[in-house]
Amino acid sequence: MKILLSKNKLIKIIKNEKNLGFVPTMGCIHKGHVSLIKKCNSQCNKTVVTIFVNKPQFNRKSDYQNYPRTLGRDIKILKKLKIDYLYLPYKKQIYPNGPNKKIKISAFSKKLCGEHRPKHFEAVVDVVERFIKILNPKKIYFGQKDMQQLKIIKHFTKKKYTKIKIVGCKTIREKNGIAYSSRNLLLSDNEKKIAGNVYNLILNKKKYLIRKKLSINLIKSKIIKLGVSKIEYLKILDINKLVDKNIRNKKNKIFIAYYLRATRLIDNI
Ligand code: PAJ
Repeated sequence: MKILLSKNKLIKIIKNEKNLGFVPTMGCIHKGHVSLIKKCNSQCNKTVVTIFVNKPQFNRKSDYQNYPRTLGRDIKILKKLKIDYLYLPYKKQIYPNGPNKKIKISAFSKKLCGEHRPKHFEAVVDVVERFIKILNPKKIYFGQKDMQQLKIIKHFTKKKYTKIKIVGCKTIREKNGIAYSSRNLLLSDNEKKIAGNVYNLILNKKKYLIRKKLSINLIKSKIIKLGVSKIEYLKILDINKLVDKNIRNKKNKIFIAYYLRATRLIDNI
């Protein structure tokens, strides 16, 4: 594994690569990231992983500052996975003239997380596009754990970068059902238990919620009783119609964002 800090060096090395796979991350590598990387390794000639805590996509300074950073440990895991390149850019290499404030993306970016985190998805698309321009990858790997992010990126690249394939990968969960997330490191044991109970409650009630045999408000009050500090949203949505209303196949999922103290967790079940 080559670790690269310099954009120019990286560009030189990968310039002739025809089947480059790319896994963008913000680090604090966990089993969710690992599954994306393994898939990339198996489908591409070369794999590049980036670790870059992208400040513009954070809405609160404290959330950015508290974001877990575990670089030494991350490097060890990535070496074991035998990835080809790990790119750790400096902010200036990604944003020589600051972020792009005029980026235009799907209206879906204003819903769910976007409603509560203005400009978040614009900043995600901006940084991913900057990496696309540097790396020119064939395939990019994203987790379904962040379904809204995956759908927005798919929609964006479909129009502008027609040759790039966006590969969606299934959500990897801990034993108690909670989705692996870098933010889980900020949870106490008891909070992890609560998060597991939230997942199991939604999973067990999913079919009743979808059939409207159970009200969203009732589930919300049950979730609060489990010990959740605040629910930001709980919604049933057809994932096939999130960005494109013309797709026929229905696939309903329950989308949730909630807080355990100051830690915000999202999931779709
Ligand atoms: P980060 O939260 O580090 O996640 C990197 C990738 O791992 C994302 O595509 C995310 O959906 C996926 N992922 C996270 N947890 C997962 C899980 N439990 N199972 C499967 N996949 C999982 O998402 C970001 O970083 C950033 O927004 C980024 C795309 C890097 C842009 O800054």
